[in-house]
Amino acid sequence: MEYKNLLIETFDNITKLKVNREKALNALNPETIEELEMFLDQLQESKETKVLIITGAGEKSFIAGADITSFVNKNPITIRPFVLKLQSTLNKLEDLPIPVIAQINGYCLGGGLELALACDLRIASEKALLGQPEIKLGIIPGAGGTQRLSRIVGKGIAKEIIFLGENISAQRAYELGIVNRVVSAEELNQFVLKIAKKITEGPSFALNMAKEAINRGPEMSLLDGIRLELDLFTLCFSHEDMNEGVDAFLNKRKANFK
Ligand code: CAA
Repeated sequence: MEYKNLLIETFDNITKLKVNREKALNALNPETIEELEMFLDQLQESKETKVLIITGAGEKSFIAGADITSFVNKNPITIRPFVLKLQSTLNKLEDLPIPVIAQINGYCLGGGLELALACDLRIASEKALLGQPEIKLGIIPGAGGTQRLSRIVGKGIAKEIIFLGENISAQRAYELGIVNRVVSAEELNQFVLKIAKKITEGPSFALNMAKEAINRGPEMSLLDGIRLELDLFTLCFSHEDMNEGVDAFLNKRKANFK
C-alpha cells in the first residue's frame, strides 16, 4: 500500500516506518495519523514482520509533535476527534504483538515523544532532543504524555519535564530511563538494525507474552500481575518454540525458532 506521509520498507522480517514530512519536521497532521493507523491495522495481519522500527525522515527530526496548525480555531469539541484519534493510534501501537523500536534521530517532542513512549525500546542519536513542550502552547500533552512518561520516570521528573517544557538531551533522557541507549548519529541506523535482527532471531510468541506481561502488569496489583505472568509463562509451553529452545540448550546448539 502507498502512503503519502509514511515510507515503509520490509526486509529480513523487519519493517521500517519513516514518518515522511521532513519540511514540517515530521509533525503528525491528521492525514499522517490516519495513515499510521491504517498501517498498524495492516501490520496486525502480517506474518512476515517480527519487529517494527519507527523513525523520522531527514537528519533533523524524529517527530516534532502533533502538527500545531491543526489546533488553529479549534474549540474543545472540534479538537477532540483529532486527539482521540492520536491517542487510539498510539494505544494500538503499544498493543502490537511484536516489539517496536523508536529510532530517535533528532527532535522528539510533544506527540513525537508520546509516540516514542508507546514503543517498546527507544534508541537515540546523541544529537536528539526530547521533550514535552506543550505547556509553551498553553496546553498539556494529549497523547498519553502525562501518563506514559510519569510511569517511566516517576511523577516528580514527569512534572519537571511537562511544567518547564524544556528539551532534554539524549544523554539526560538516558539517565532518566526514557531512552535505552544513546549512540552517535552515524551509528544509529546500524545499531538499531543490529538490535532488530537479534529480536527477529528470537521466539516471537514468547516475546509477545513478555510484552503483554510487562505492559499489563503495572495496571494490576502485584499479586494479579504475578498471576498474569504465571498464565503467560505456562502458555509458552503450548508453543513449539519452547521445545526448540529447551532442546537447543540440552544439545548445546543454537536455537532455531520458527
Ligand atoms: N507542527 C507544525 N509544524 C511544525 C512543528 C509542529 N509541531 N514543528 C516544526 N514545524 C515546522 C515549522 O513551522 C517550520 O515550518 P516552515 O518552514 O513552514 O516555517 C518547519 O517545521 C521547520 O521548523 P523550524 O523553522 O521551527 O525549525 P527550528 O530548527 O528553528 O526549530 C523546533 C525546531 C525547536 C523543533 C521548532 O520547530 C518547534 O519548537 N516545533 C514545535 C514543537 C512542539 O511544540 N511540539 C509539540 C506540539 S503539540 C503536541 O504534540 C500535542 C500533543 O501532545 C497531542
